[in-house]
Amino acid sequence: MNKREYKQRRNSLMKHLGKNSIAIIPTASEKTRNRDSHFPFRPDSDFVYLTGFKEPESVAVLIPGRKNAQYVLFCRENDKIMEIWNGRRVGLEGAKADYNVEEVYPIDMLDEVLPQLLENRERVFYSIGNDESFDKRLIEWVNKVRLKARAGIVAPQEFISLDHLVHEMRLFKSPAEIRTMRKAANIASEAHIKAMQACKPGMREHAVEAEISHTFTKHGCPPAYTSIVGGGENACILHYNENDAELEDGHLLLIDAGAEQDCYASDITRTFPVNGKFSTEQKIIYEIVLKAQLAAIKKVKPGNHWNQPHEAAVRELTKGLIEIGLLKGDSKKLIENEAYKTFYMHRTGHWLGMDVHDVGDYKINGKWRPLKPGMVLTIEPGLYIAAGTKGVAKKWWDIGVRIEDDVLVTEDGYDVLSKKAPKTVEEIEKIMA
Ligand code: GLY
Ligand code: MN
Ligand code: MN
Repeated sequence: MNKREYKQRRNSLMKHLGKNSIAIIPTASEKTRNRDSHFPFRPDSDFVYLTGFKEPESVAVLIPGRKNAQYVLFCRENDKIMEIWNGRRVGLEGAKADYNVEEVYPIDMLDEVLPQLLENRERVFYSIGNDESFDKRLIEWVNKVRLKARAGIVAPQEFISLDHLVHEMRLFKSPAEIRTMRKAANIASEAHIKAMQACKPGMREHAVEAEISHTFTKHGCPPAYTSIVGGGENACILHYNENDAELEDGHLLLIDAGAEQDCYASDITRTFPVNGKFSTEQKIIYEIVLKAQLAAIKKVKPGNHWNQPHEAAVRELTKGLIEIGLLKGDSKKLIENEAYKTFYMHRTGHWLGMDVHDVGDYKINGKWRPLKPGMVLTIEPGLYIAAGTKGVAKKWWDIGVRIEDDVLVTEDGYDVLSKKAPKTVEEIEKIMA
């Protein structure tokens, strides 16, 4: 992403904020893992979206119409000793030179400077509830301004969540964002292929996960979320992530894993036989899910609404379940009664972007929102037949299948960003042979 794009985003947001407003956007705080070890730092998505700045301990402030500087950043100062111990810092000069920052302060001056920036601003835009300690500090800063009333200084009167404005912007991806997401999907596709090629009966789930992690790391990507690598019965646990069981001959393996490229997620699921060959029952279930997935993807086009892909998937899954005798009765009634939920208990997708379950409303004025070019969503139907499911013959037990792709809405339809990950029975068996 180039500097100009971040500047355009800030300008476009500032237009929406209007005069006499101020927006305060802190990045994420560092999280302790245990004792004095930290989780790898991941900046806040809204903050990166507006600044491109990825260091911890930073706060961006946007003040539309302010003389001299409308974009103010608080960040860490250069510090020789700290940089020897903990790594390089952009520093104050670097922030101005490389990030288009117009006015910059050391993060240690936040309590001193922010109340001054709040003076005589009518509206504060801020995402409340993400960080309790930051929420409290904001209240203290506002109270500090209130104490100056007799000096004729006015404190802000309105507090508005910044979420909606920024999240609507994030929902529509620019060409540069789409390029990044395509790259993330390509890397994840390569990882899924490596996993298929490495998988053998007797391996443990985490040994196959290593192929995924190795590919991500080789490309400099962290995982966008904790990878799910579940064989046999574990494929029927939707958020399984122990990833430590032995993979058995004759079982399926479900892998839900996506790379994060430059703070943009991919989210791909593939399901394949541990021994490289689908059994008759596995193939039957797999083909039903694939048919449902393709039918749902076909519904991705401008003008169709958000729920149409889900409705198409449910229709195909229900039809398939009736054909093999796992559901009995009239398909319309079964859909109405949500009978499919015994085997398909989640929805067919979600927005995808900087966050894996990305931001953006799904309904507008109570109605499913229409799809528009630039939106990216996942399409991920599945069927999960846990052992012991009432009324289900044993031959179907422990078959869990999900197929998930990342799909861009284009001017006239869709583009599957994750198309490089093999998906048909033939493609998968060939790659595993
Ligand atoms: N990997 C999370 C999801 O598929 O929604
Ligand atoms: Mn997903
Ligand atoms: Mn997923």
